Amino acid sequence: MIEIDWAEEAGRLRASAEGEGDWNAAVARSLVRDGDKVMADIGCGGGGMAKALAEALPSATVVAVDADPDVLEQAREHTGGLVRCELASMDEGAEPLRRAIDAPADLIWASASVHHAADQQAAIDALASLLAPGGRLALAEGGLPARYLPWDLGVGEPGLELRLDLAQDKWFKVMRESLPGSVPMPYGWTEALTRAGLTDATTRSVLTETPAPLTQERLDGVVQSFQTRIARMTGEGHGHGHGHGHVVADQEWLDPEDLAVWKQLLDPDGPYFLGRRRDLAVLSVRSIHLGYAPR
Ligand SMILES: C[S@@+](CC[C@H](N)C(=O)[O-])C[C@H]1O[C@@H](n2cnc3c(N)ncnc32)[C@H](O)[C@@H]1O
Repeated sequence: MIEIDWAEEAGRLRASAEGEGDWNAAVARSLVRDGDKVMADIGCGGGGMAKALAEALPSATVVAVDADPDVLEQAREHTGGLVRCELASMDEGAEPLRRAIDAPADLIWASASVHHAADQQAAIDALASLLAPGGRLALAEGGLPARYLPWDLGVGEPGLELRLDLAQDKWFKVMRESLPGSVPMPYGWTEALTRAGLTDATTRSVLTETPAPLTQERLDGVVQSFQTRIARMTGEGHGHGHGHGHVVADQEWLDPEDLAVWKQLLDPDGPYFLGRRRDLAVLSVRSIHLGYAPR
């Protein structure tokens, strides 16, 4: 059983809204159209894309929507009055979202949020129903697991990062199954957009690369993200067993030998600390699935 306490994630979501500013700005510029009046970011987290959309097209009204009040507070601070922030959940059908957005939308963006809805197809149907004729629904989901580490780190078995990805994939399956009322969606995102009545569904993926050596600030961010991922796999720092955070009941996601290696890699006082290496890089591919409301 895995239960995510989004309030506990609020600070991390704010940090990623700040860290992903350039990516959000570039994607926002490619998505907006002159004449768009209403745009929404659903499951907005720290509000990074909501802010980028408002900056890309200042004449439009942008609404940031999230189901968690603490997360929404972070979005409110981050977007600094540029966007309207509203509390609503994708798990309750279209009406609360329609009220939150307050108009048909020309563009709806939802990044890594639909996969937290109990019934993903129902959530996509609801989002599609909020579009103005010709409006676009953009779902940022999937892509490829990011790569940061050399294959052989000189400690432990090579391929450590691949095995962390595999463990996370198993974690993800249990997370989905743990959502109350969880409904499987045994098909891809463009098919889901098409089933929601949208046309010309397609995908474009954005590759981002920062070669080694990373700046110390970037390296610290990578180390921090591994710390978060390992804590999630071990249930540490998340009120283990008390119904908070990423609670993982009696499940070993990572091989104990790999876990011991991760502890060495993340120990700032140890000889293998990642935060001192010059050979870490960032290679990431994120997919954006787009569908259009009929005119
Ligand atoms: C993984 S975060 C992604 C945040 C942001 N969109 C991003 O890409 O960084 C998922 C977000 O979806 C929100 N969320 C989860 N379930 C939701 C639901 N049913 N309705 C609306 N928002 C939801 C969470 O509070 C969280 O802010």
